[in-house]
Amino acid sequence: MRLIISVGTRPEIIKMAPLYEALSKLNEMELLLVHTGQHYDWEMSGIFFKELGVEEPHVNLNIGSDDQVSQTSAVMKEIGKIIESYEPDGVIALGDTNSVLGTAIAASKMEVPFIHVESGLRSYDFSMPEEINRRISDHLASLNFAPTSRAFSNLMEEGISPKATFLSGNTIVDSVTKVLRKVSAKRTLEKFDLDGAQPLVTLTLHRKENTEYEHKLIGVLKALEELDDITFVWPIHPRTQKALKTFDLWNKLKSLKNVRILEPLGYLDFLGLLISSDLIMTDSGGVQEEAVTLKRPCIILRENTERPEIIEMGFGEIAGTNPAAIVSLVRKYLYQADLIERLKRAPNPFGDGNASKIIASVIERIWDLRSLRKPPTFKGGSPHYLAFRVEESMRGYTVASLREACGYDVVSIYDASGRSIHFDEGTPLLPNYIVRVRGDPVNYGRFRKFVKI
Ligand code: UD1
Ligand code: UDP
Repeated sequence: MRLIISVGTRPEIIKMAPLYEALSKLNEMELLLVHTGQHYDWEMSGIFFKELGVEEPHVNLNIGSDDQVSQTSAVMKEIGKIIESYEPDGVIALGDTNSVLGTAIAASKMEVPFIHVESGLRSYDFSMPEEINRRISDHLASLNFAPTSRAFSNLMEEGISPKATFLSGNTIVDSVTKVLRKVSAKRTLEKFDLDGAQPLVTLTLHRKENTEYEHKLIGVLKALEELDDITFVWPIHPRTQKALKTFDLWNKLKSLKNVRILEPLGYLDFLGLLISSDLIMTDSGGVQEEAVTLKRPCIILRENTERPEIIEMGFGEIAGTNPAAIVSLVRKYLYQADLIERLKRAPNPFGDGNASKIIASVIERIWDLRSLRKPPTFKGGSPHYLAFRVEESMRGYTVASLREACGYDVVSIYDASGRSIHFDEGTPLLPNYIVRVRGDPVNYGRFRKFVKI
C-alpha cells in the first residue's frame, strides 16, 4: 500500500510522529511524507522532525504564510500535483489546520481515500479557521479516527458513517509518553535559570481569535501584571510576537519582571517546562491535551474549547482573556491542596499512549482503502433516521445483530438517564436505552416488525 502522510505545522509534526513510525512498521507499506511548508522556521518545524526521530520529509511544498484562503488553496493545488504523480491508495492528515483542509479537499476531489486523524472535535465557533477546517475534513474523510468518545459521538450526531469511524485516543499521548523519558524538570529549570522559588506557570497564546484583537492581548498582559507573585514562562509563537509589536505592546510585556519571554521551544525543552510548571495557561489545543496528560491544571485563554473533557474532569476552566477571570482562576487552581492528587488519579480522556498502534492496525485490517469510497446504494434513494426505546424483548441484541435483523445502523445510544454511550459492533442494546438508527427506507417494514413501534 502507498500512503501520503501530510503535515504542515508544529502540532501536526509532533502528533504525526508516532503514527508515522507505527505505519512504517506495516508490511508492504510505502509512505511518502509531505510537508506543506505552512510552518517553516527551524523552531516551528525542523526541530520536531529531529527531536521526535522522524526522517526529513520526502517533499516540501513550501506553501509558507498567507491569508486563510490563499494558504488553503495553495496547499490544495500543490498537494494535488503530488497525489497525481504518486498515485497513493490513501492520504492521511491530522488535526484542523489549513494544511489539513487543503489536503482533504485535494484528495477527495481526486477520488483518493482521505483519512482524518483527530476527528470530531467541535467548538461551534466559526470565527476559528480550525472549526471550519475540521468540520469539512471530517465530512470528506473516508475513514475518521476520533480521539475521545465525545468526539466520536459528535461525528455520529452529524451523520458520519459509524462503519468508517474509530475511537483511537489522541496520538499526543503517544508522543508525550515517548519523549518524556528524555526530559528532566531539574535540567529544564537549570537551563532556563529558574530557581523555582515562586509558583511557575507556562503560558502559550497564538489563536487568530486572540492575537487579532488588541484588547484581548491587553487583557492577558494585565492579568500577568497583577499575578506578580507568580513566574510566567512564555515561549512566544511568531504570530503573537508580530501582533504584540503591531499593537505596541511588546515593550509593555518586556517590562513585566515576573514574565520570562522565550522564543518558541523545541519539544524536549517545552515538555521540560510543562513538567516543571504548577499550572498551564494556554489557548493551544495540543497544550491543553498535554496539561491533562501531565496532570497539570490548565486555564484556557479562550471563550470555548473543542476539548471539553478537560473541564468535565476538573482539570481546568475557561477564562477567556478577561484579566479578572484569569487572575481568579489561576489563584483557584494553583492553591487547591488536593487538586494535583485528584488529577493524578484521574484517567486520561485523551488515551493511554496506544493511539498510533490502534490507527495503524485499523488501516492494516481494512487495507483496501478504496473500498471505503464505493458509493453506497440506497434502494429508497438515501437513508433516513429513526429513534426507539429498547424493549425487554430485544435483550441480547447488539449493534451488529440489530443491523443483521433489520438493516439499520446504530448512530447513537443513550442510557436510561439520557447520557450518550460510546459503542462498537459488540455493544449490547439494553432495555430502556434510546437508540438512534440510520437505514435504507426500503427496510422500514423489517424495522417496524423488529421494533414494534
Ligand atoms: C496554525 C494553524 C493553527 C495551529 C497553529 C500551530 C491554521 C488556520 N492555523 O496557526 O490551527 O494551532 O498553526 O502553531 O492553519 N510564522 C512564522 N514562522 C513560521 C510559521 C509562521 O514566522 O514558521 C508567522 C507568520 O508571520 C505567519 C503567522 O506566523 O503569518 C501565522 O502562521 P500560520 O501558519 O498562518 O498560522 P498559525 O497562527 O501558525
Ligand atoms: N510546543 C512546543 N514548543 C513551544 C510551544 C508548543 O514544542 O514553544 C508544542 C506543544 O508541546 C504541543 C504543540 O506544540 O505539542 C502545540 O502546538 P500549537 O500550540 O502551536 O498548536 P495547537 O495545538 O493549538 O494546534
